[in-house]
Amino acid sequence: MLPIDQIRKDFPILGRKIYDKYPLVYLDNAATTQKPRQVVEAMADEYYNVNANVHRGVHFLSQQATDLHEASRETVRRFLNARTASEIVFTRGTTESINLVASCFGQAFMKEGDEVILTEVEHHSNIVSWQLLQQRKGIKIRVIPITDDGLIRLDCVEALFNERTKIVSISHVSNVLGTVNPVREVIRIAHAHGVPVLVDGAQSTPHFPVDVQELDCDFFAFSGHKIYGPTGIGVLYGKEQWLDRLPPYMGGGEMIKTVSFERTTFNDLPYKFEAGTPDYVASTGLARALDYVSSIGFDAIEAHEQDLTAYALSRLSEILGMHIYGPTQTIGPDGQPDVSHRDAVISFQVGNIHHLDMGTLLDRLGIAVRTGHHCAEPLMRRLGIEGTCRASFALYNTREEVDALLAAILRIQQMF
Ligand code: ALA
Repeated sequence: MLPIDQIRKDFPILGRKIYDKYPLVYLDNAATTQKPRQVVEAMADEYYNVNANVHRGVHFLSQQATDLHEASRETVRRFLNARTASEIVFTRGTTESINLVASCFGQAFMKEGDEVILTEVEHHSNIVSWQLLQQRKGIKIRVIPITDDGLIRLDCVEALFNERTKIVSISHVSNVLGTVNPVREVIRIAHAHGVPVLVDGAQSTPHFPVDVQELDCDFFAFSGHKIYGPTGIGVLYGKEQWLDRLPPYMGGGEMIKTVSFERTTFNDLPYKFEAGTPDYVASTGLARALDYVSSIGFDAIEAHEQDLTAYALSRLSEILGMHIYGPTQTIGPDGQPDVSHRDAVISFQVGNIHHLDMGTLLDRLGIAVRTGHHCAEPLMRRLGIEGTCRASFALYNTREEVDALLAAILRIQQMF
């Protein structure tokens, strides 16, 4: 059991009054999570007491800031169980990580007519990055379809591969449906064809442990702000053998060894991909966020969030006219919560109440959810809808908050 009362005290914002409602019910965690004091205070402390540019100075502060920054990289390495810290590239977030791979991998290994395989549930960041490459190089995008329930059609994967397939890029967990995609199986199939796989872990890393060596993915991306860390920092993990062979993404300081007007040589991994002053304070914040999650432990986090999700699914299903997108079954055959298909995200529609109206009225009742297409327009089109209302949970949410959501929806329904 999570010590929820104690945990909630770490997040001052959860005690805020919004309009005249107290306390705020924050159910928009898939968009961004709130930040614990431990993260904010570590960042403030670094600005107040350590601040200096990293990898550049001989002076004391610069060395201390560099040590902190590199220690954060090691914390990320441990969190993902990467083989070496040189496989951990700091980026601005998942979006930049995916763009980096699409751009650099595309430049090195793809030519006109070559193919990337995506899925129908992808976030725009994992679609548009490849479309930009498509415009530059004339590559083709192929798409793994889903069932009406939002599950990846594994039976269709094999047939999408051919000799032009160069890479697969797939989300670990859908930000709309909460479906946990069978990335292991997709990776196995891709590798049998000699094709590398990029996994978008923006929605998985906050909820369950990821071991990149065990997954055997070739690239893995995630964002700090979705896992209780600061905005503006994220990670690209890449197997050394791939990162070594990719050209740099951006040019500037830090990513070079020597520069002349005739010729520049590039720095070693991971610095080759980190042009300019890195956000070394955000890396500290990210490391403290990962420490925070690790100190609570994923066993407890998963159990709590699965309980909340199962409870929310069952309570919301009681509402007349409620339509929940994605699979609603979260209990496995052994009677235990089953995370294999569904994570802590619930997209729903109530009767013919427009999702925007529902979201706006929920807000007035003190409940923050997200509405709209959730940056996944192709998935909306596949589901035949324009958008949904989405409640997404984090480790600090409670069953009482689910009850508050339910009561508010019932109240809104009466207004219509
Ligand atoms: N990708 C984030 C979400 O799903 C912003 O809300």
